[in-house]
Amino acid sequence: MKLYFAPLEGITGYLYRNAHHDHFSGVDKYFTPFLSPNQNRALNPKEIKDVLPENNKEIPLVPQILTNRGEFFLRAAQELEERYGYEEVNLNLGCPSRTVTAKGKGAGFLAEREALDCFFQEVFEKIRIRVSVKTRIGVDEPEEFRHLMKIFNKYPLHELIIHPRVQKDYYDNLPDWKAFGEAMRMSRNPVCYNGDIFTVEDFRKFRAEFPEADKVMLGRGLLRNPLLAEEIRKEVEKSDREPLADRCGEIPPDPEGAVGDEERVKAFHDRLYGDYQSVMSGEKNVLFKMKEFWVYAGHSFPGAEKCLKKIKKASRLAEYEGAVSEIWRWYR
Ligand SMILES: Cc1cc2nc3c(=O)[nH]c(=O)nc-3n(C[C@H](O)[C@H](O)[C@H](O)COP(=O)(O)O)c2cc1C
Repeated sequence: MKLYFAPLEGITGYLYRNAHHDHFSGVDKYFTPFLSPNQNRALNPKEIKDVLPENNKEIPLVPQILTNRGEFFLRAAQELEERYGYEEVNLNLGCPSRTVTAKGKGAGFLAEREALDCFFQEVFEKIRIRVSVKTRIGVDEPEEFRHLMKIFNKYPLHELIIHPRVQKDYYDNLPDWKAFGEAMRMSRNPVCYNGDIFTVEDFRKFRAEFPEADKVMLGRGLLRNPLLAEEIRKEVEKSDREPLADRCGEIPPDPEGAVGDEERVKAFHDRLYGDYQSVMSGEKNVLFKMKEFWVYAGHSFPGAEKCLKKIKKASRLAEYEGAVSEIWRWYR
């Protein structure tokens, strides 16, 4: 089972990735939040910082590109290969945000099937490194995916990562497992599943439904519980040792979102907090980042709602630190 850390724009930049990689195991590949090449440049200074090899030492990393122009994609891929040594790039066909889709990019590109086909044709004529795709299943209706699959099947994608929601769902409704199953059957390219795996129990259900799936990308689940990939890996090892038939009903589900090792999460938090302070200017920016951290991590601390509220309200780092130390005391 391969486990990937999803790209999460504004969150999983190089500081977050390094902290996660140093404190936890279980992730086979990390993906950068999307890079947006344009006619003036392949990568902007912030994006370069995010992909620099010295900022990603020993991290298996795939840069993700958001564009609908073959020439921009190729130029960014070339720079990522020749300057920074990357051997795989990923195309974003999933971003549901209106500002992106209005320009025909991200999930918006899925509405332009002919243009998408031409894009791939242009890219695959010239590209020298591996190309993977991260996609939603359509713009409005899941039925669109059958047509999209015909396009994906024409090209040698390294991986097709499927988040089975349509653009208009954003993150509402449930991932469409029926559409994912159909895609698995139809795809000539290796498929990876992504969507709403928040706990080991969610993963068990997914694996029971799709025992043949061997790649899963985790996003918000890892933000909520940074140990999730390790926990899933243990579950896979356990179930590979024992035949499924022997275990039915034997293993109690993990308590919802529980983090097994608070000390490790605390060390991870402290590292991240320190790194943000050393790189970012101004308390406000650091506070913004850390509050976002707790929006997700807070799910793993049931009962700490009062402290989480204090974190949300903190306007100075000192206040923030006070509220966070209450959380650690609570869990000791
Ligand atoms: C805050 C946020 C930022 C995201 N940024 C990106 C991104 O840069 N590129 C991308 O392909 N998907 C992005 N996504 C989508 C996630 O990678 C993932 O597909 C989605 O969260 C569903 O997976 P999950 O249920 O495991 O979180 C983002 C999602 C969120 C919530």
